[in-house]
Amino acid sequence: MKSLFLLFLLLNVSSFAYGQGGLAIDIPAKQVLTVNQFSCLGTQGYGIFIGQVYSSDGAFDEIGIQNIINARAAGIYVDVYITPCRNANNNCTNGLISGSDQANAIIQRMNDANIVGFLFLVIARNNWPADQTGNRAFILNFTNTVKTAFTNGAFASGIGIYTSYNDWSQIVGSSWSGASDMDLFWVNWNGKPDLTTGFTPFGGWSAPCFHQYAGNVATNNCTGGVPINYDYHASCTCKDEVCYNKFVKKRSERSAHKFDRRH
Ligand SMILES: *[C@@H]1O[C@H](CO)[C@@H](O)[C@H](O)[C@H]1NC(C)=O
Ligand SMILES: *[C@@H]1O[C@H](CO)[C@@H](O)[C@H](O)[C@H]1NC(C)=O
Ligand SMILES: *[C@@H]1O[C@H](CO)[C@@H](O)[C@H](O)[C@H]1NC(C)=O
Repeated sequence: MKSLFLLFLLLNVSSFAYGQGGLAIDIPAKQVLTVNQFSCLGTQGYGIFIGQVYSSDGAFDEIGIQNIINARAAGIYVDVYITPCRNANNNCTNGLISGSDQANAIIQRMNDANIVGFLFLVIARNNWPADQTGNRAFILNFTNTVKTAFTNGAFASGIGIYTSYNDWSQIVGSSWSGASDMDLFWVNWNGKPDLTTGFTPFGGWSAPCFHQYAGNVATNNCTGGVPINYDYHASCTCKDEVCYNKFVKKRSERSAHKFDRRH
């Protein structure tokens, strides 16, 4: 069943034009893939790797950052997951507690490392406090810091929200729409690489921009048993100054003269 599904993906990837829609991957486990492994994934049509740069214990994720470096060396575009440190004990390893302090640290690290990728703030049940009002404020404090840095020219990318219906409902309440100006990266492992099947509007979003449609799949012959998450993206309504659509347009213009990654 799974191999049939992957075969289906292999046969269909060539019809996606970059920028209109396409396939992306991320890695759920803390494992490094080599440049060759990323190149192999690239030939399967996965044009974007989304790497984790920050983890919920309040530290940079050096394994995720290495994967970003390796993916980029393989000619794959990179975007970024940030799992913030947000817990009831405020025991973040690096001592940074507020959304804005964490966002500023990440902006600085990304600028220093010359990593240009769209950010997705991961809102998923780890140890988030029960206080939904506080959680909402934390999210806005984080995302507004990134938006301000973009507006000021201090950072080249925008930010979206990665979440599932259940996580969003528990952490901020399903009807809170305070973040709906940002792109939604929707998690639902339904095996459908599209933006519509099974999507129930929540959080003020009427559609996602990204969909993680399969997760923890270890069958890809490029990765030697390392499990992969599979993501689909396509054009979607842009509601803020720095949505993914606008970001990728600039990015592909910037890199067009460097290499033609499709051949
Ligand atoms: C923070 O505290 C929780 C609960 O005691 C614990 O599970 C977690 O490992 C701690 N995190 C850090 C970074 O110390
Ligand atoms: C974030 O919260 C801090 C207080 O915790 C505040 O000083 C700062 O102005 C806020 N930043 C944004 C961008 O909301
Ligand atoms: C993976 O499988 C595909 C299709 O069966 C094949 O074309 C490709 O060469 C394989 N790649 C590796 C690294 O084994």
